[in-house]
Amino acid sequence: MSKVALVTGASSGIGRDLALMLAREGYSVALVARRVEILEKVADDIASIGGRAEVFKADLSMYSDSSNLVRSVVEKLGRIDVLINNAGFAIYGPIDEINDEDIQRIFWVNVISPTILIKEASRYMKKAGGGCIVNIVTLAVYTPIPWLSLYNATKAALKALTDTLRIELSPYGVRVIGVYPGYVDTDFHRNVVLTNSSMKHRWSVRGSSIAPVLRSSEVASEVVKRIKDPGFNGDIVIGARYRLLRWLAHHFSGLVVRAIKNSYINSYIKIQG
Ligand SMILES: NC(=O)c1ccc[n+]([C@@H]2O[C@H](COP(=O)([O-])OP(=O)(O)OC[C@H]3O[C@@H](n4cnc5c(N)ncnc54)[C@H](OP(=O)(O)O)[C@@H]3O)[C@@H](O)[C@H]2O)c1
Repeated sequence: MSKVALVTGASSGIGRDLALMLAREGYSVALVARRVEILEKVADDIASIGGRAEVFKADLSMYSDSSNLVRSVVEKLGRIDVLINNAGFAIYGPIDEINDEDIQRIFWVNVISPTILIKEASRYMKKAGGGCIVNIVTLAVYTPIPWLSLYNATKAALKALTDTLRIELSPYGVRVIGVYPGYVDTDFHRNVVLTNSSMKHRWSVRGSSIAPVLRSSEVASEVVKRIKDPGFNGDIVIGARYRLLRWLAHHFSGLVVRAIKNSYINSYIKIQG
């Protein structure tokens, strides 16, 4: 029986590329997202290269869709070897403009649902004597960016979960990999939830020579390479310049915070008046 990978957010961007690449590596893939018609298309693409994929429609902001997912995947595909918590989105705007439903939704999709999936999947993996959990975090956790507070908070929680469970699950042969992408060219940036102020001052984070634009396929191929390496149980930062940025943010956090604060006061605050 071939190995099974569950990929959340497989309808787009990094998740779609991960699903296709894992299928090429011989994994049967459980494709999870809300837009089922797009998942069917990804499943067709996988079938056309001789792979197997099953579609699981789930809204990961809902408890019912999150809690039954791993069991449904094991019932349909027979096992679970790899869980990739990739689905996620951002809200951009001042904290007092964000509505309560969006606050709950971002914590559910980015943290609570991944936690439930890890809890369920790790039971199977421990019994099976091993497995691999991958959490797609973000390099933004190293930089406290105003108006991205909830995104950073959810991803910081996912980072803490990743670091802690890596230790907790290692005696059982379950690896826990954290992925810290910089700017990746996907629909993520178009899907950012905006508030009144950020609609006026549009989402404008872009790649630059210091922080170059990554392709989702670059991220996915690095992740798949590490999943295949049984000796790897750590963090992935894609690209030498992003590795340098993480190092600088870690070792010179005071300077980074001061620079962000100055830029915030000089741009955002002036715009808000
Ligand atoms: N792009 C970047 O620059 C960047 C940088 C750092 C980290 N990341 C992280 O990378 C991950 C993937 O993002 P991406 O760039 O590939 O963005 P994307 O193209 O917008 O993909 C996001 C995926 O999440 C799924 N999703 C969103 N809300 C969901 C919900 N309620 N239930 C189920 N699925 C849901 C979407 O599927 P449906 O809409 O079909 O449900 C979609 O497949 C995210 O966790 C993001 O935070 C991205």
